[in-house]
Amino acid sequence: MTTTVGIGLLGCGTVGASVADRLQRDRERIVERAGVSYCLRAIAIRDCMKRRPESLERELFTTAARAVADDPRVDVVVELIGGLDDAADLVERALRRGRHVVTANKDLIGTQGPQLRRIAESAGASLRYDAAVGGAVPVLRILEEALAGDEILRVTGVLNGTCTAILSAMEAGSSFEKALADAQRLGYAEADPSNDIAGIDAAHKLAIIAQTAFGAPLLSPQIPTKGIRGITQADVANARSRGLRTRLVASLERTAQGVRASVAPVVLPEDHEFARTQGVENAVQIDARAAGRLTLRGDGAGGSATASSVLGDIVAVLRTIAPAASILATA
Ligand code: HSE
Repeated sequence: MTTTVGIGLLGCGTVGASVADRLQRDRERIVERAGVSYCLRAIAIRDCMKRRPESLERELFTTAARAVADDPRVDVVVELIGGLDDAADLVERALRRGRHVVTANKDLIGTQGPQLRRIAESAGASLRYDAAVGGAVPVLRILEEALAGDEILRVTGVLNGTCTAILSAMEAGSSFEKALADAQRLGYAEADPSNDIAGIDAAHKLAIIAQTAFGAPLLSPQIPTKGIRGITQADVANARSRGLRTRLVASLERTAQGVRASVAPVVLPEDHEFARTQGVENAVQIDARAAGRLTLRGDGAGGSATASSVLGDIVAVLRTIAPAASILATA
């Protein structure tokens, strides 16, 4: 008997298209890694006219997102719509029906993570969101798995690629507006980039880190947040003339009074780990009692980098299904 796990995709934008394409093209390698076969059953989209990767047959596409979340042939729902409007309802619906969910949605986990985890737990479903923080940089996985036996003291990082791209381009002489338009063209910025610029995107990610590192039910609206809108070309040039660079830094610390978190632009010496981030790069420093300081860096946004992390979560979920599938196969 062969078991095939059904996958349903919600959203086919920059990240979704990359994930769907890799699921189809790299099937052999992914199945070998996961230990179980899978089938991409459907992809929910909004815009029927948009061009899609050639590897995706037309029959896969539907505008009925709810039908994908409810489809009994779908065991794993991959939510890549983003934002809260439709995604929140669809993810909750899928979890309540016992579907495993993989999402890259930082807005959703940053504002509703603790509640969604409770729903997943009581339905016996997995909820994975490694791609919501750090793009290809496995921040949550390190906190959750590698450092599971340690005590996390502090996590700080440059967590928004759009802000880094804008600030590093401004340091090279670009205007704020041109740098933002470039980040949008390259697929780093959100469709509405106001959350990127206002620091809210970084606050969502910091809340998710707090939930993971400290088990704290911290939600992003509780984090004092300041963005980069007010930073001018003159500010950046002035800092550069003093050997300094400006970056949006997210900080999280365990204190005797509880968890302290903030997001704000910071001026740093140019040889600092965070100051050396360029373009879409994210950098994260984790201080743990026994492990000391770990520094992670890499592409924090963009279709292919984020898809790598989403696919890692999909394989992790498939592996949890694989042992049951192989027991069934030999029964
Ligand atoms: N808009 C986000 C960023 C995308 O610029 O970092 C990745 O979460």
